[in-house]
Amino acid sequence: MSQLSTRHLLGIKDITKEDIQLIFETADNFKEVLNRPIKKVPSLRDITIANIFFENSTRTRLSFELAEKRLSADVINFSSSNSSVKKGETLIDTVNNILSMKVDMVVMRHSSPGAPYFLSRNISANIVNAGDGTHEHPTQALLDAFSIREKLGDVAGKKVAIIGDILHSRVALSNIFCLQKLGAEVMVCGPITLIPKYISSLGVKVEYDVQKALEWCDVANVLRIQLERQQIKYFPSLREYSLYFGVNKKMLDRLDKEIVIMHPGPINRGVELNSDVADSEHSIILQQVENGVAVRMAVLYLLAGAR
Ligand code: CP
Repeated sequence: MSQLSTRHLLGIKDITKEDIQLIFETADNFKEVLNRPIKKVPSLRDITIANIFFENSTRTRLSFELAEKRLSADVINFSSSNSSVKKGETLIDTVNNILSMKVDMVVMRHSSPGAPYFLSRNISANIVNAGDGTHEHPTQALLDAFSIREKLGDVAGKKVAIIGDILHSRVALSNIFCLQKLGAEVMVCGPITLIPKYISSLGVKVEYDVQKALEWCDVANVLRIQLERQQIKYFPSLREYSLYFGVNKKMLDRLDKEIVIMHPGPINRGVELNSDVADSEHSIILQQVENGVAVRMAVLYLLAGAR
């Protein structure tokens, strides 16, 4: 098989294990390209891609833009904060105006869960979800699983603990779907107030003690406390969160095994993750970012092939 089963990447829930494997094999090839002196291929020449971001981003926006440029696509960038959205223009009017400039693919981040699904039903361009509210962040999950595969040889059979603010995290949901499709065991861990009640129906283990989660797992993916999505107080203070749920070097020193530490970024240093772990030999956080470019190149290339 050399084609994806879908013409959009809206969520990991909607794609198959074979799709994920094809993305990884394609990303392996692009990673090799990115290590060459000339890091560019003509694969998407004559394709125009709009990166439409209605929410803040550093890694995802730059990673997509770089992936598109490495593939020789024409790229336009839209950020809602300095656009006519501020004058009241709707999402569909904004996107239709951008598409009338002959855009082939749209990469979109939006604070509303489902916004990319809405777009995919109303426009003809291929859509890539770059994060929709608390719902999914499919390319983050793909680059996370790709990084585990690179570090440990395979994802199947590995134990992955996702630690932190599960309730507000699109990274958690996409990671659960992706890791399970690839045959990993998944645990979520955090304060009871930040673990959604439905989560065990997804077939994941639930743990409230971070040290026990670290003892169980091969890989700990530590998530940010998403204060911007929290309308009420879910824990007394950041200091208390750090004390009971933060990951630090002392906790890793108590383990009698190797462990891989991941974080999708941005990190709240000293809250969910201490610098003595984030910057340690256990951490593959910057490899995740590096792999993001190759994985996004693979996604864009394969979706363009489905046009
Ligand atoms: N991991 C991630 O989505 O980071 P940004 O919000 O900076 O894109």
